[in-house]
Amino acid sequence: MYFGVDYYPEHWPKERWAIDARLMKETGINVVRLAEFAWAKMEPQLGDYHFEWLDEAIEILGKEGIKVVLGTPTPTPPIWIIEQNPEILPVNLDGTRLGFGGRHHCCQSNETYRNHIRRFVREMAGHYSNNPHVIGWQTDNEFGNSHQRLCACSSCRASFHKWLESKYKTIDELNKAWGTVFWSQTYSRFDQIPAPLPTPNSHNPSLLLDWKRFCSDLIVDFQKLQVDILREVCPNHFITHNFMGLFDKTDYFNLAKDLDFISHDQYPMHFRPERDPLSPPQNLAMALDLMRGMKQKAFWIMEQQAGHSGWELVSPAPRPGQLRLWTYQSVSHGADTVVYFRWRTCLFGTEEYWHGILPHSGIPGRRYAEIKKTIQELTPVMKECKGMLPGAGAAILFSYDQEWALQIQPHHPQLNYIKHLQGYYKALFDAHIPVDIISDKEDFSRYKLLVAPLQFLMTPELSTKFKDYVSRGGHLVLTMRTAVKNWNNTVIPEELPGDLSELLGIGIHDYDCLREIEQSVKWMPGDAAITSESANKWCDIITLDGAKALAVYEKDYYSGTPAITCNSYKNGLAYYVGTEPGTSIMEKFMHEAVKTAGLSPVMRTPKGVEATIRQDRDTAFIFILNHNAYAVSFEIPKEWQAVTGKEFPKDGFVSLPPFETAVFKSGRNL
Ligand code: GLA
Ligand code: ZN
Repeated sequence: MYFGVDYYPEHWPKERWAIDARLMKETGINVVRLAEFAWAKMEPQLGDYHFEWLDEAIEILGKEGIKVVLGTPTPTPPIWIIEQNPEILPVNLDGTRLGFGGRHHCCQSNETYRNHIRRFVREMAGHYSNNPHVIGWQTDNEFGNSHQRLCACSSCRASFHKWLESKYKTIDELNKAWGTVFWSQTYSRFDQIPAPLPTPNSHNPSLLLDWKRFCSDLIVDFQKLQVDILREVCPNHFITHNFMGLFDKTDYFNLAKDLDFISHDQYPMHFRPERDPLSPPQNLAMALDLMRGMKQKAFWIMEQQAGHSGWELVSPAPRPGQLRLWTYQSVSHGADTVVYFRWRTCLFGTEEYWHGILPHSGIPGRRYAEIKKTIQELTPVMKECKGMLPGAGAAILFSYDQEWALQIQPHHPQLNYIKHLQGYYKALFDAHIPVDIISDKEDFSRYKLLVAPLQFLMTPELSTKFKDYVSRGGHLVLTMRTAVKNWNNTVIPEELPGDLSELLGIGIHDYDCLREIEQSVKWMPGDAAITSESANKWCDIITLDGAKALAVYEKDYYSGTPAITCNSYKNGLAYYVGTEPGTSIMEKFMHEAVKTAGLSPVMRTPKGVEATIRQDRDTAFIFILNHNAYAVSFEIPKEWQAVTGKEFPKDGFVSLPPFETAVFKSGRNL
C-alpha cells in the first residue's frame, strides 16, 4: 500500500460509490480507511447489525483493487447507548457532565460502555475477518482528542484508586511518596483520594502527575481491550492507530507497544484562531520524527491534509504545490503509506468545510490533479525506499513524564516542554542533521550525539544510563531543570545537578527565574565574532568543577558566570545548558556539539529548504524540499542522480521553484 484516502461511503448516495472508486483508482490510490465513526449505521438498535451497506462499498472498492482498513467506531457511541446509560458520558475536571452531540462522548473506564465495545467489536471483526479486501484495523480514532479534559466521573475515580493501589501497595507508601503531610492531606484509604477537581487553590503536584499517568494508562488499556479481540478474531490483519504527533494526553510510546505499526495524522495548515495558520516546516518534521521514534520504524500517515481545514472558521487554501510538498515531507521522514483526509468534502455535519481531495461538487479540480501527480511520481520512489530510515547519528530524548511534570509546574509562565525541545530540534534541522526522537528506554549507544533537554525528573537508573553513555564516548547535552525531582514529583534534596555533577563537572548553587528580568549570554570560544543574545525564562547560576565555559551570562549579580558548559568525562563529553538560549547562541552551540561529535549534514541548502534522507546499507534517497514561496538555487553533489524533479538539475545546480521538491539517489550518504 502506498497511497490511500479516508472515505465515508455513508455520507454519499450508493450510486456515487462506483464513480468514487474509479476516480480513486485513476489517481493510483490502493487503500481506504472506512467506518471509524459509523456505529449508528452498523448497529441502529442493540443487536440489530447492518453491515450490508459496508460490504457493498467494500466490494465496489475491491473491484478496483483497493484494500480496506476498518476503524472500530468506538469514538461515537450511538444515542441509544447513551439513552440507556447516560453515565457513559464523560465528566469534565470541573465536575460537569458533557452531552451527546460531538464525538468521544464516552468515558473510557465505564464497564457498561466497555461491554458494548466487547460485543460490537467482536461482531464487526467476525464479520470482516475473512473479507479478502480487508487488510487491517485502526483502533478508535485519535485517542484523547475531542475530550482533552479527560474524565473525572465516579467510575474513573474508582479506576484511579485501583491504579494507585497497584502502584503504591499501601496508603502509607502513597502518603510518603506524595508528601501528603503538607496541608493536612494525609489519607487513610485509597478511596479517599480525589480526582483533581477544582479546589480553593491547587492540588498536590504528585497527585497531579499520577492523575496524568493514570489517564494515559487508561487510554492504553482501553485500546488493549479492542486489540485483544481483534488479534483473536482477525489474526491475519494488522492493527494500528492514528496518533497526533506532539499531542500530550497519552504516553504514545506505551500506546504504540500493542500495535503492529503506528499511524499519524499530519495537518500543516490550521483554522483555529489561537494557532498560526501554517506550522513551520521544522515543527512538522519534528512531529514526523517523533512518530518514527515510537517504534523506530516506518509508519503510515492515516490522515494527510488534502485541502483547506475548517470547522466554523476556515484556513487559507494550501497553495499550489503545498499538498505535494507536505506529502513528500511525510515520506522523507519515514512514512511508507500516505492516506489523505478526506476523499470528498462533506455536505453536512461539523466538518462541512474540512476540504477533501474533491470539492463539495465531487468534480475533480486543482487538488485532485496535484495529488494524482504526487502519487504517480512518488509511488516508484516509495517502492524502493520502503522500510528505510534516516540512519541518524543524533537523537533528542522525548519523555511524557517530563512534559507532564513541567505542565504542572512550568516555573516560568512561558516555559513549555515541546517549545523548548523545538529550539534544539530547529538548530539540528537548519543544519540538515538527521535526528531520531527517542524515549529514555531506548538504547543510547547508537548515537554520537544525544540531546536530553529538561530532564526534570530523575531516577538513579536514568542518571546511570547517562553516565554510561558518556563513559563509552557519547556526547550528551543536558539542560536547565535537570535532576530537580524524583519520579514521584517531589524534590531531590541534593544540590543541583544531583549525582550528575561529576559527569557535568559543575555545581549549581543558585538560579534565577527571568520574570520581567532581562539577561543575555555571550558565546566565548575564542572567535572574533562574539555573539551575544538573550537568555530566556531561566538561568542556572553555575560554578565550574572541571568543566569549561562555552558561554557566559552578561548581566546582573551573576554576570560573567557560565551559562553553557562542556566537560570531558571518560571517553565522551557532557554539555550543560543553564538557560533557554536565543536562536543564534543555540545555533552556535549546536554547531559546536555537532562538529565535535563528528556528524555531517545531508547537504547544505539555502534557508527554508529542507534536506532529509532515508537509507539502507547501500542506497540513500535524499529529499530536497523547498518550503519557501520563492525559488531557490544551489549546488548538488555530482554523483547524485535525480529520481524525481529531473528537470531541475543543470550543470551541478538545482533551481527549485516555490514549494518544489526533488528526490535524488546516491550511495549511502552519512
Ligand atoms: C482529525 C480526525 C478526523 C477529522 C479531521 C479533521 O484528525 O481524526 O476525523 O476530524 O481531524 O478535523
Ligand atoms: Zn469516566
